[in-house]
Amino acid sequence: MNYDGYFKYDNNIANSYDLDRQEEEHWKLENVYIENLYNCINIMTLLDLPVGTGRFLQYYGKVEKVIGIDISDDMLQVAMKKADKLSSNIVLHKGDAFSLQYPDEYFEHIVCFRLMHLIPPDKRLNLLNELKRVVSKKIILQVYMSKATPLSQKIFRKLRALVTQKNKIQKPWSHIQSYNLFQKDFDFLVSTTNLKIIKKTFLCDYLGGEIYVFELSK
Ligand SMILES: C[S@@+](CC[C@H](N)C(=O)[O-])C[C@H]1O[C@@H](n2cnc3c(N)ncnc32)[C@H](O)[C@@H]1O
Repeated sequence: MNYDGYFKYDNNIANSYDLDRQEEEHWKLENVYIENLYNCINIMTLLDLPVGTGRFLQYYGKVEKVIGIDISDDMLQVAMKKADKLSSNIVLHKGDAFSLQYPDEYFEHIVCFRLMHLIPPDKRLNLLNELKRVVSKKIILQVYMSKATPLSQKIFRKLRALVTQKNKIQKPWSHIQSYNLFQKDFDFLVSTTNLKIIKKTFLCDYLGGEIYVFELSK
């Protein structure tokens, strides 16, 4: 399989990843969501996938065993520096979300933030099925939900490209391909995998869409 998320999180992106995003409204809201969630529950095993630069590791203090997986060595290196300063309950390693080297139901929880939009639509089901296989209780899934129709989205993107070009405000991640996910696509994924939505939280609007966190159970 070949898509941008596999190979574009290189050294350049990794080293400025947190800094480039830390002022975003949704970055802050996502952090608060995870911090609040893991502040008040005790769980044994958690998979953070993709762990990226390890932005959430600081919030998993009460979790017995944390595994963080990412496909990018460069992102993992940044995460490892953070893990070194935290407790010894964190293990980070390279891996592919589509074929996880863990037995069925190994993890109580999976935290999966900012991955779905990178996955080509025809591969989303494979991803969700693999997450479902290795989880025993809950998947905490962040998604960018598109609101616009494909045509108005196209117009919006063109306009945005013009404005960003004119004002020279290209984001460092503008060259990474992402894919629209509409509510109907999401509903299809959830019903096909037989997962249940136990909680749906709206975080904020973002670029003509909305950001949600779903808690899904088997
Ligand atoms: C936008 S970052 C999100 C990182 C982190 N979850 C966060 O919220 O900041 C996307 C990450 O997905 C990773 N990634 C992309 N495809 C992957 C795959 N198939 N398996 C594991 N990691 C993958 C990339 O290397 C990158 O670190």
